[in-house]
This record gives sequence, C-alpha cells and structure tokens, in this order.
Amino acid sequence: MLKEVARLIKKSKRGVVLTGAGISAESGVPTFRGQDGLWKQYRPEELATLNAFLADPGLVWEWYNWRRELISQVKPNPGHYALCEFRNWFEDFTLITQNVDGLHRQAGLEDILELHGNINLNICVGCRRTDASVTAIDPADIAVCKHCGEKLRPGVVWFGEMLPQDVIRESFKKAESADIFFSVGTSALVHPAAALPVAAKQNGAVLVEINPDRTPLTALADYYFAAKSGELLPQLVAAVKEEAGG
Ligand code: APR
Repeated sequence: MLKEVARLIKKSKRGVVLTGAGISAESGVPTFRGQDGLWKQYRPEELATLNAFLADPGLVWEWYNWRRELISQVKPNPGHYALCEFRNWFEDFTLITQNVDGLHRQAGLEDILELHGNINLNICVGCRRTDASVTAIDPADIAVCKHCGEKLRPGVVWFGEMLPQDVIRESFKKAESADIFFSVGTSALVHPAAALPVAAKQNGAVLVEINPDRTPLTALADYYFAAKSGELLPQLVAAVKEEAGG
C-alpha cells in the first residue's frame, strides 16, 4: 500500500493534509477523545466554551495555563517533520490543522491553515483583538484588553464558536481541488473540519487516512493505514524517495 500511495503522490499536483491531535500524541500532547484523552478527564462544556469562560474565567485560565505549560515542554515528533517533506512533492501543498499546539510551525511548516486558532495567542473576549504584549495570564488577576477593557482569553476556537471564516473558506477551496488528501490523527468527528476530507473525496481526490483507530472516515478512504503517524509518515517519505529513485 505504501508503494501505491507513493506512486499516486508522484502523479499528484495538489496535495492537502488535515491533522488532528493524534499527530501530536507521540510528542506527549494528550488527545481529546483517545484512551488518555482530555475529554475523558474534563467536561469540554466546563472549560472550552465561551459560557464556561464568562462563568469562571479563572478556572478556564488555570486549565489553559496547564496546557500551555505542557506544550511548552514538548517537541515536534517524526510525523511533524515528515510532513515538511510533503512541500517538496506537490506544486501546491496545503497543511490544515485542528491543533492549537504550534508543533507544525516548530517543525518548520510556516504556511499553515489553523482552523481552531493557537493556544499561545491571547485575544480580547470583547473586541477579539490580539494582545501580543501579554504572555502569562494570572487566573486570579486576568489581564484586560488595552482597547476595550474586557478580559483576555486564549486565542482558540471554543465549542459553539465560528471558525475564522477566511481560514475555513480557503480550507474547503484547497480540499475541493486536491488530487490527494491525507487525514492524519483525527477522529473525524468535529465539524466543519470533518467535512474537508469528504469534500475532497467528492471532488475526485484520493483519500488516505492514517490513524491507529478506525473513524467514521475510514470506510470512505481509498487507503487506510492503521498506524501511528510518527511511524507511518517517515515510512511514506522513504517510499516516495525510493519511487523517485532518490
Ligand atoms: N498517530 C495518529 N493518530 C493517533 C495517534 C498517533 N500516534 N494517537 C492517537 N491517534 C488518533 C486517535 O485514534 C483519534 O482518532 O488521533 C485521533 C485524535 O482524535 P481527537 O482526540 O478527537 O482529536 P481531534 O480529532 O483533533 O479533535 C478535533 O475536537 O475537542 C476538539 O478542538 C478540539 O481540535 C479538536 C477537535
């Protein structure tokens, strides 16, 4: 199967990759719904919604500060680095991520579509301006926006919130024109991200899924690798190099 996908990559001009929390699992970042997932320990409604923040901003900041601290100590894994190679394979390569951990950027991919924002950004809960001047937030004394005086919140998309419209529009445009689309390390449950691989497939893309567990997308995939991304993606890079005689 690896060789077949490697051959298809060589024949493709436009490649798109959608990643989820699974690609960061091997870096030590907990996923949301896996065995050790964050949503197994916490209720998302209590931490990852605007209502939760308005009800208890200190609790929400305590949780995000814990996640920021954890993410500050982890590094990209071979899966993140392997995706940097994908840039060399396609005339037009797009990485779309649901992750907010910044590990794709740390691995060297700059041009990324971040659907759910970035955990290290602080934005105003009122006017949504970004405040880069504030790095650490004290849950007991939450910094406020210089423009409108409202509290600062993490720059991530919470449940029930709209995704950045420009990012989502661009993501669907790229998915719908892809020759090959990879869904990597996502449970394919959360929309609108989960609709991207379906849109790609409906528009003629070859659909490849990499995930140790099956998902609602698996039945639709042309190729399904029941594997960890940190192991499979480097193998795919090697197979493409071999195919190219490189
Ligand atoms: N390699 C590849 N996939 C993996 C690995 C790994 N090493 N380890 C776990 N996985 C898979 C799990 O089997 C699971 O299907 O990664 C997937 C992670 O799924 P979720 O935890 O649901 O994360 P994700 O799909 O990114 O969630 C989407 O939901 O909670 C919101 O905003 C949050 O962006 C997140 C969105």
